[in-house]
Amino acid sequence: PNHTSVNNLSNLLNVRLEKLIQDLKKLGFTHASSNYILTKGYIELILQEYNYDFEVNEVVNSSNVYDELKSPMNPRFLETRPPIVTIMGHVDHGKTTILDYLRKSSIVSQEHGGITQHIGAFQCVAPISRKLITFLDTPGHAAFLKMRERGANITDIIVLVVSVEDSIMPQTLEAIKHAKNSGNELIVAITKIDRISNLKERAEAIEKVENSLIVNDIELEKIGGDVQVVHISAKTGENMDQLEESIISLSDIMDLKAEKNVKTVCEGWVLESEVKKAVGNVATVLLKKGVMNKGDILISGNSICKVRAMLNEHGAQVTKALPSQAVEIVGWKSLPNAGDEVIQAKSESIAKKYVARRQHLLQEEKEAETVEKLNDERVAQS
Ligand code: GTP
Ligand code: MG
Repeated sequence: PNHTSVNNLSNLLNVRLEKLIQDLKKLGFTHASSNYILTKGYIELILQEYNYDFEVNEVVNSSNVYDELKSPMNPRFLETRPPIVTIMGHVDHGKTTILDYLRKSSIVSQEHGGITQHIGAFQCVAPISRKLITFLDTPGHAAFLKMRERGANITDIIVLVVSVEDSIMPQTLEAIKHAKNSGNELIVAITKIDRISNLKERAEAIEKVENSLIVNDIELEKIGGDVQVVHISAKTGENMDQLEESIISLSDIMDLKAEKNVKTVCEGWVLESEVKKAVGNVATVLLKKGVMNKGDILISGNSICKVRAMLNEHGAQVTKALPSQAVEIVGWKSLPNAGDEVIQAKSESIAKKYVARRQHLLQEEKEAETVEKLNDERVAQS
């Protein structure tokens, strides 16, 4: 498997859950719990460290051939990274307005003003803690569905937006379901509070929304749960700082980390890609781990890139990118696909070798599939 929960791993290994959690804590996973998700690399590392008699036998195929390029996991290189946040909610409840507000206020606080580029993600600095938050812009689109299909969960926190005027609607319920299935943490933002100017009526309306959330199994703090609620207006900006600080306090608890050693091979995801006039192929890449520099060699699908330039969400050139940051990367020889993984290679020749190997494997897999189909047909005929 590419990832598994601690609970599941303890079953697989036939090791007591408590013992495994203890061992993990010794290894540096300070927040290990039964439903903590471990990726394949960490699983292998744990197996190694503890000589568990268990083999992860992995057949090399087109979908995992690039895994060989990845760094061996090293929890000692883990450093805190910004949370990656997705806004979800019913149509017209104010998702885009929230993102626009945060984006604008983050531009104002930046030196480079100017026009905001459309990029699949942006970072802003929370007002009190001065810590970074990454917001993903378009969680509905194809790239996200593709990543989700592959079991990649690139979001840490979901902000569920509910309009105080309309309360819970069908897509609110869908978002709640998604949050539960994905295991992402949840924060509720009851928005458009400026629409009700009478403070007593406003409080009543908010209370009504909160009660509906509770009825739908959202464990709000006021009933002893741990889901935070903020009451905001993305139009006037009221309590928007609270929203940002709620995200920060939750991410502090989540203790989000990524390997950020200079030697760590970079990994990330293509959020979107396009051909731009005068620049050529560009792709927005969300960095999962490592430190990306100008001049690095990247692979994604069949595409190879020598990073010629990296631009942040303000369209400003940056010389390096860090985990949880999204940058627009210029220098792709061909256009990579949104939703595909990005992996760094040591050199262009290594990158070429791996792309050729993947294509060869793809060809073989296609042929095997054809043969299988023919066999099935033959069996069906006889
Ligand atoms: P979809 O992308 O269509 O699902 O909608 P959305 O959730 O992104 O909603 P959007 O941000 O486009 O807002 C919908 C309407 O509500 C717009 O007319 C906004 O101006 C308005 N609106 C959003 N937030 C607020 C708010 O806090 N106060 C007020 N008064 N209006 C708001
Ligand atoms: Mg919108």
